[in-house]
Amino acid sequence: MTAAPSPRVARFAELTGDDLRSRLREALVLYVNAMRYPKGTAEQRAPMWLAHMLRVGWRCVAAFDAEDRMAGIAYGYQGAPGQWWHEQVKRGVTERHGHEVAERWMEDYFELTELHVRPDSQGQGIGGELIRKLVAGTGNAHVLLSTPEGPSRAWNLYRKLDFVDVLREYQFAGDPRPFGVLGRTLPLA
Ligand SMILES: CC(C)(COP(=O)(O)OP(=O)(O)OC[C@H]1O[C@@H](n2cnc3c(N)ncnc32)[C@H](O)[C@@H]1OP(=O)(O)O)[C@@H](O)C(=O)NCCC(=O)NCCS
Repeated sequence: MTAAPSPRVARFAELTGDDLRSRLREALVLYVNAMRYPKGTAEQRAPMWLAHMLRVGWRCVAAFDAEDRMAGIAYGYQGAPGQWWHEQVKRGVTERHGHEVAERWMEDYFELTELHVRPDSQGQGIGGELIRKLVAGTGNAHVLLSTPEGPSRAWNLYRKLDFVDVLREYQFAGDPRPFGVLGRTLPLA
């Protein structure tokens, strides 16, 4: 296997809620560009990102270039009953694979909620490094995430990091796109 190139970023930093609040606009523009969403999506997502910061176990890591512009961002928190994503995934896993499998994955996990790298900085190992730094020290047994069905650079990365299928071709309420839910036991090797 060829080693991934070293990331061309000046620094990685763990962000506090205040840090992210003060750079929220920049982070959301990065997110919208990475996902190729319409521009107005940034404003729509702001309340959700602000609410996520208040959740138990919330952690955020960002990458910055030499001009101190944000080159990548990842955040997540501890999954728990009552959270929309948790309930959606739990229902899907239980229906398809049974209660025991759902319990095994979802009893103690970190939800990797957002992971985005600026388009001009992708493919340099930044995404992988953000995941490693984010989940290191969470203390959870598993990490779970959902991503639109591939193929995509995101899928390549998750497979490289040994994420396995938890649910495939899954439809979340209100979103017509099929998603994959992937999971991995922690810690990352
Ligand atoms: C998905 C995303 C966050 C990944 O970030 P990234 O910095 O581009 O990722 P990395 O450079 O760490 O890894 C991606 C590539 O490196 C490869 N790679 C990673 N580690 C590797 C290793 N040790 N050896 C060889 N290849 C490796 C991956 O397979 C992948 O290959 P590709 O570029 O040929 O597709 C980024 O591409 C992105 O923001 N995409 C758009 C938004 C998105 O899809 N976000 C995820 C939503 S769930």
